[in-house]
Amino acid sequence: MGEGISDYTKFSVDLRRHMWKAGVEMELRRLIWQIAVMGKYISAKIHESNRKLAGFKNIFDEEQLDLDKSADEILKNQLQYSGFVREYASEERDAVMQIGQGNEKYFITADPLDGSSLVETNLAIGTIIGIHKESIFAEGRNTLVASMYITYGPLITMVYSAGKGTHEFVLNREGEYVLSEENIQLRERGDIYSLGGLRREWTPEHLKYIEFLETEGYKLRYSGGFVPDINQVLIKRGGIFTYPALKKSPKGKLRLLFELQPMAFIIEQAGGKATDGKEEILSIKVDDLNQRSAIYIGSRFEVEKAREFLTGR
Ligand code: AHG
Ligand code: MN
Ligand code: MN
Repeated sequence: MGEGISDYTKFSVDLRRHMWKAGVEMELRRLIWQIAVMGKYISAKIHESNRKLAGFKNIFDEEQLDLDKSADEILKNQLQYSGFVREYASEERDAVMQIGQGNEKYFITADPLDGSSLVETNLAIGTIIGIHKESIFAEGRNTLVASMYITYGPLITMVYSAGKGTHEFVLNREGEYVLSEENIQLRERGDIYSLGGLRREWTPEHLKYIEFLETEGYKLRYSGGFVPDINQVLIKRGGIFTYPALKKSPKGKLRLLFELQPMAFIIEQAGGKATDGKEEILSIKVDDLNQRSAIYIGSRFEVEKAREFLTGR
């Protein structure tokens, strides 16, 4: 018997069914689903920009928004009418936006398009979302209730955690997100490393740590896109991603609210760890929208080793 569409959908578990069975609270699962759907619209925008690269003009000859800005507009417009979101904070905005009536439960952080400069090279890029309750200016551990990211690569995938494990979905040809990997668990120790920042800008302690990984035979896997780089560690079940403190920027490059906290949540839920080299990412208090931090994220062994090299203990 051939594999018809109906066979395929019969055996697949779609995102809403998965969240319902996992007991994710109703408003939260609607929110996650709505954001996942927005991934399709963001992906459409990315395709539009590829047409532009290929020499096509916008038929109305309009000024086109940057991709990051379009992705941000798409998310904001959707979340505004969700009924569940009080505030929206985005890497693309200078201030937190009040988008609800004031009594909604959730606060959203977004990096609407991470790695947008990679579009022209046709490498994968992504959207990163944090879902908080009560506030975003706190320790992530106390406010984050769910996180998700969407990867725009050869396939569109979505990874989420609502505090009940980390799960991956693939957008199928019928436009549904279907479960591809449930309860992803990292090994204690992996064998890939992904290294941000210029080597000559690294601190001596970080350099020694990387030399340790090199003598241990770790394979280099760095695309320069945070989402696919983290996704690789997750799907390969281990390894380390780091964007360290640099001599000129002791807080590294990546942002706590928009990039690091959501990924830390997802990786912890998969049995991994995330620190700034010393402290856990989810224990760092956020005071500023654009607060940055160094990051070591991945399997427990590698993150723990980083702490040993960085603290001398
Ligand atoms: P964004 O496109 O949202 O500004 O973020 C880009 C980030 C991230 O994707 C990646 O990990 C990092 O920048 C790469 O930085 P380098 O170019 O310094 O390697
Ligand atoms: Mn980013
Ligand atoms: Mn961005």
